Amino acid sequence: MLVFPRPSAARDIYWDPKCNLKSGLYGTGALGPPSIFATLEGEQHKQLRKALSNAPWTIGQLKNTWEHRFDELVNLFVKKMREHAAAGRVVCLSDKVAEFAADIMSMISFTNAFGCVKNQRDEKLILTNWRIGLDFFGFVGRFRFFRERIIPMPLVGKYFLPSVDNEVGMGWLMCEADRQVAKREKLIAEKEFDGSPDFLQHCLEARYSDGSPLTPVQKRAHVSLLIQAGADTTGTALGSILRFLTTTPGVFARARAEIDEADRAGRLSTPILYEETRRHLPYFVACIKEGVRLNPPATNLFARITPKGGKVIDGHYIPEGTEITTYAYVMQRDKELYGEDADEFRPERWLESDKRSNELEAVQFSFGMGPRVCFGKDIAYMEMFKLLPEIVRRFDIEVLQKGEYVVAGGVAYNRKFLGRFVERTGEKGSV
Ligand code: HEM
Repeated sequence: MLVFPRPSAARDIYWDPKCNLKSGLYGTGALGPPSIFATLEGEQHKQLRKALSNAPWTIGQLKNTWEHRFDELVNLFVKKMREHAAAGRVVCLSDKVAEFAADIMSMISFTNAFGCVKNQRDEKLILTNWRIGLDFFGFVGRFRFFRERIIPMPLVGKYFLPSVDNEVGMGWLMCEADRQVAKREKLIAEKEFDGSPDFLQHCLEARYSDGSPLTPVQKRAHVSLLIQAGADTTGTALGSILRFLTTTPGVFARARAEIDEADRAGRLSTPILYEETRRHLPYFVACIKEGVRLNPPATNLFARITPKGGKVIDGHYIPEGTEITTYAYVMQRDKELYGEDADEFRPERWLESDKRSNELEAVQFSFGMGPRVCFGKDIAYMEMFKLLPEIVRRFDIEVLQKGEYVVAGGVAYNRKFLGRFVERTGEKGSV
């Protein structure tokens, strides 16, 4: 596999429709049953993506339909962190925000959250098992013989891959997806669905252009994929940004001053709305962008295959049938583009001018690019735009251990980021 580390290569690789064949590592089964993410062939992917159309998950629809549900969860999060604060408890800050992301994903998928925030634990060990599975995913991704010859052997796959017999983790999630699909199908056979259409409902109603529905396996696959693709990835973004905010000198104070000023001017609701962050907290938005740039939650799993006749990428001719990819972590620290301080957390780089900000935005690869760009980008941004400013608005954070951002199998998570939430006192602390 060839890795192109410079931002200039990304457009050549990911925007060319002829280059939309994914490499075999996507089809290992390590990420559950076959889904849009694991569909290798470009045309097949296009049909499936069209059927699943991401319209209900665009920011406009989210604001109308789901934002008040995000608000309920933000309020619950604040209540629970207040309890930790009152007890002076040390918590893993990155795990707390990842649990929030897991609940958002289960809520978006099934209407009711798994209860990670309510119960203050990783329900059904969804996050823990996801992280354990990453090493295996990385291994099969790199060891071609193992994935092509060993995994397909009878019983071997069952041993290594998630199975519906598992009581926790991805296997449990697949089983839960089955249960939820069956329950909802029974319900809508009896009477028309009258709730807010969640992703499960969306999968049941999805139709290919010839009018055919998703297969039973595809329905289950997409419901569980969403939680896999969107829980710990967004959790990592939230955790990393919180670490940058609290450990980079001057940043927390400036972000809070911006929030306080907007608060005094009566521009913020409780909890803060997505649109309010976007419009009134430009420095905070820059912190979010800078955090996602420096700690991409998915660094490098995105190989494609060069088309018939080969292809020129970033000035190099690459023969047909070659696996090609890029590496978000490296690309987003390119010194030619970002300057000598590319490795530093400096949100101001996003505020220099609209032209500069657009230039940087165009080469961000954290959410992928082109026809396979992340489906849930707007959901992830909505979580970041709502939860993080609310935390800074209400709590001081005493960091006891910075912990680390770890990459395993091309996906990142945070560990051992320990500290205390300390309830903010004074006028603004009581909002
Ligand atoms: C910060 C959080 C997230 C990051 C960094 C992220 C990253 C990515 C990346 C890089 C891809 C492209 C993979 C490729 O080109 O092969 C992708 C695809 C995808 N993501 Fe996300 N994602 C995040 C959150 C979410 C959320 C919240 C959801 C669900 C609501 C989601 C659902 C998906 C799906 C379904 C795909 C496959 C799209 C397709 O193949 O057409 N992601 N994501």
